[in-house]
Amino acid sequence: MTHIPYGMVGGGPGAFIGDVHRKAIQMDGLATLRAGSFSRDSEKSKAHGRALGIESDRLYSDYRQMAQQESERSDGIKFVVVVTPNSTHYEICRAFLKKGIHVVCDKPLTFTVEESEELERLSREQDLLFGVTYTYTGYPAVKEMRRMVSDGLLGKIRFVNGEYAQQWLANPVDESSPLAPWRTDPTVSGTSNCLGDIGSHVENLVATITGLRIERVCARLDSLVEGRTLDDNVSVMVDYVGGAKGLYWTSQIAFGYDNMLSIRIFGEKGSLAWCQEDPDHFTFTPNGAPKQIFSRGRDTFAPEAQRYNRIPAGHPEGVYEAFANIYKSFVEALAKRLDGKRLVEEDLDFPSVSEGLDGVRFIERCVESSKNGSVWVDMH
Ligand SMILES: NC(=O)c1ccc[n+]([C@@H]2O[C@H](COP(=O)([O-])OP(=O)(O)OC[C@H]3O[C@@H](n4cnc5c(N)ncnc54)[C@H](O)[C@@H]3O)[C@@H](O)[C@H]2O)c1
Repeated sequence: MTHIPYGMVGGGPGAFIGDVHRKAIQMDGLATLRAGSFSRDSEKSKAHGRALGIESDRLYSDYRQMAQQESERSDGIKFVVVVTPNSTHYEICRAFLKKGIHVVCDKPLTFTVEESEELERLSREQDLLFGVTYTYTGYPAVKEMRRMVSDGLLGKIRFVNGEYAQQWLANPVDESSPLAPWRTDPTVSGTSNCLGDIGSHVENLVATITGLRIERVCARLDSLVEGRTLDDNVSVMVDYVGGAKGLYWTSQIAFGYDNMLSIRIFGEKGSLAWCQEDPDHFTFTPNGAPKQIFSRGRDTFAPEAQRYNRIPAGHPEGVYEAFANIYKSFVEALAKRLDGKRLVEEDLDFPSVSEGLDGVRFIERCVESSKNGSVWVDMH
């Protein structure tokens, strides 16, 4: 089955990530945009939808109407992509799940743990697929590192260092900012800005590659630019179940850094290191041997990572491909499901609603820790 019809909520004129999702979904030709509610402003939404080539009767004034009417059509959308600001994710996802429509939502999944638990419960009860676009898990190098850790090449993990540094909030923002200024507004962003916006990627990336579960956190959320309510620089110490330790730093006041997400994992037998600004390469340093540089496309990865390799080495793949890889897994799994076939674990190679919930719990516990003077807080 190809060209599964999908709809989008958000991603209107001038929006950042909705357009990236649309282009990424198109890359493999597996799904086609058929319906949308792209903006709260009905006229803007419809004009945007028309420009994208969508039939006018499937351009909706609001997402509730879209969920209702699409669920009643015989050719209705099979999944919805939610790319609105954080404050709206819960209600929008819930509306589509209740109408039996599969969901992909961007992170952070919701404002509260309870809301994410509710979405997890609903998707389970309705037997619906639910993906969360933790972008960076889509890279072939990340999937290969995950395989190497699970094959025991690092031995028992001792320590993880995760960093995500940007400079775009080093000065106060205004409406002309390239990224939407709602991120610094707690009523739209949530209890955290920097940790929710980019720290959630670190939490998920570490969990994806290492499989480590966080036992407790000790965090400090700072607002270093005067007048800012929410955090723009965050330090987190992490204890994992089983004894490994971690240290995360996420910052949006880091002059000189555009989107420097980096991870280093140290085990008893060696270490791995990767940075998303050079996503095709990672290094592996085994105990007692020289550092090795792995290159996507040149060095054959294991099949579970190699299947996401799109172009020969030296032709850089980037964030569009990473998104496309998440959608490739999600849409192929959905196609299999719609064909009445049973899904196995390998089919579900995309971040799920449970990982969305883990991310929201991580944010909530870090905020609690920081508010109480950076005390240790248990995750569960
Ligand atoms: N995975 C990633 O790497 C990544 C990157 C950027 C943003 N994000 C996440 O994606 C989401 C969107 O971020 P953005 O930067 O694109 O925001 P944005 O403000 O640029 O775009 C949001 C869009 O949603 C529309 N919108 C708002 N409320 C709506 C509603 N009720 N119905 C229909 N449309 C509505 C707005 O008009 C706008 O077009 C956020 O949750 C953000 O955290 C994730």
